[in-house]
Amino acid sequence: MSIALSVRGGDPGRIATPLIAVALPTGGAFPRALTALDAAYGGVISKAVKNGDFKGAKDESLLLVGHGRGPARVLLLGLGDGSDAYASVMRAATLAGRKGNALGVRRMAFWAERLAGDAVEAAAFGLSRGSWDFTDYKTQPAAKDRPKPLTEAVVISSDVRGSRGAFVAGVAIGEGQRLTRRLQQLPGNVCTPEYLARTARDIAKRHRLRAQVFGRRDLKRMKMESFLAVAAGTPQDPKLIVLEYRGGRRGDAPVALVGKGLCFDSGGISIKPAQGMEMMKYDMSGAAGVLGAIEAIARMKLRVNVVGLIGSTTNMPSGTSMNPGDVVTASNGKTIEILNTDAEGRLVLADVLAYSARFKPAAIIDAATLTGACVIALGNSATGVMTNDERLQDEVLAAARRGGEPGWPLPMWDDYREMIKGDIADIKNIGGRGAGTITAALFLREFVPTGTPWVHLDIAGTAYSESDLTVIPKGPTGVPVRTFVEFVRGRAR
Ligand code: BES
Ligand code: MN
Ligand code: ZN
Repeated sequence: MSIALSVRGGDPGRIATPLIAVALPTGGAFPRALTALDAAYGGVISKAVKNGDFKGAKDESLLLVGHGRGPARVLLLGLGDGSDAYASVMRAATLAGRKGNALGVRRMAFWAERLAGDAVEAAAFGLSRGSWDFTDYKTQPAAKDRPKPLTEAVVISSDVRGSRGAFVAGVAIGEGQRLTRRLQQLPGNVCTPEYLARTARDIAKRHRLRAQVFGRRDLKRMKMESFLAVAAGTPQDPKLIVLEYRGGRRGDAPVALVGKGLCFDSGGISIKPAQGMEMMKYDMSGAAGVLGAIEAIARMKLRVNVVGLIGSTTNMPSGTSMNPGDVVTASNGKTIEILNTDAEGRLVLADVLAYSARFKPAAIIDAATLTGACVIALGNSATGVMTNDERLQDEVLAAARRGGEPGWPLPMWDDYREMIKGDIADIKNIGGRGAGTITAALFLREFVPTGTPWVHLDIAGTAYSESDLTVIPKGPTGVPVRTFVEFVRGRAR
């Protein structure tokens, strides 16, 4: 369900709405701006705060039901110590959107003290993120028992004029991330490489961007044997998708955003165990992140050039599949020994990274659900970050932190490179048992255009979750949209 967001000023106590979320920090005096609302509630709001029934702690919430005029319900939400206003408002607003959606109200408002500028962006984005759900395949109950979806949310700001730009940005990033999460959540039989290509074309059409889609025949002509090896076992047409956003000066080197788009990864001949294999529909999360980021960037009209590059296929066992032991030559001329067909993401990205050279990018960031080892190392809380340029890495880590999608660096030392030295070819597509996330990144590095700063994001643990993460329900998280957007915004004029 889509959500219409707006921003307005005014007294939170005098707004006619079925629900108002009121975000408060720990400690501090009870806000004067809540005097009318508190009075309408017979003083129970200030009383709950005074008694310590509501402390304002991070993720804390308390629902109060009113009577008479003004908001029919008040949902108190904790901001914690509120030291990072952007992060704490984003989190509280996400929880507000999630709870509002669950309560079954059609409309809600969000208030926090002195909500202006950046914090309005955080609030708008949070409401958009929190209210996201995916009900396409649920048969709807009869109209009378149907819960009302949250379709409208209002951010109450202390400076509406001064926060207009921030509000628009929050909505844009929210919409981009909603697109990403939807693509992630769609099953593999619907979200195919062809579907991702159509989505890219749709984004291009709506924002007047250039989109190019290459299929199996084109990949053959471009000598992308590595990418084609992965696609050898599937009857679906693999797609190399290129989406160009030109908001910067003509001739300015673009930022390249590269995504792994495995619409299903069975492992191929090196097949995965049945348990949990269904999660491999999420193996296109990097690609979904590229599309969502470009959707957001185009809505924000950022003054920067960006090229999105996606390698999409499925990895299937069949009589035509690649086999362990096969050797292929990637489009940059390097030869690869394929020792495990389940290490397929790097084979796809090898040719996509090599292809990016023609855009002479100022920087490349790729995102891929690349290794199970990354989930073992960092769990669901941090994206694995690897690079050939530590300055760029610092820039990406800062962008990721700002977006609330923290990353953590892993070393790219020469010792690890030994592990993927080929026996009969230049390089092997797997290392040994240890350091699987790093050897995968070192494999990718071989295909990055020479001299181009590059950062690799292993989002295997952060793109989706198998359990509820408090503000985000189980399922797709939308990572790495925010990281991409914050990075590109930082590069805009
Ligand atoms: N898509 C998987 C990685 C993955 C695993 C993502 C679990 C999310 C959760 C990737 O293609 C893969 O299968 N990697 C192998 C590499 C191995 C064969 C060297 C892995 O991690 O097991
Ligand atoms: Mn795999
Ligand atoms: Zn994979």
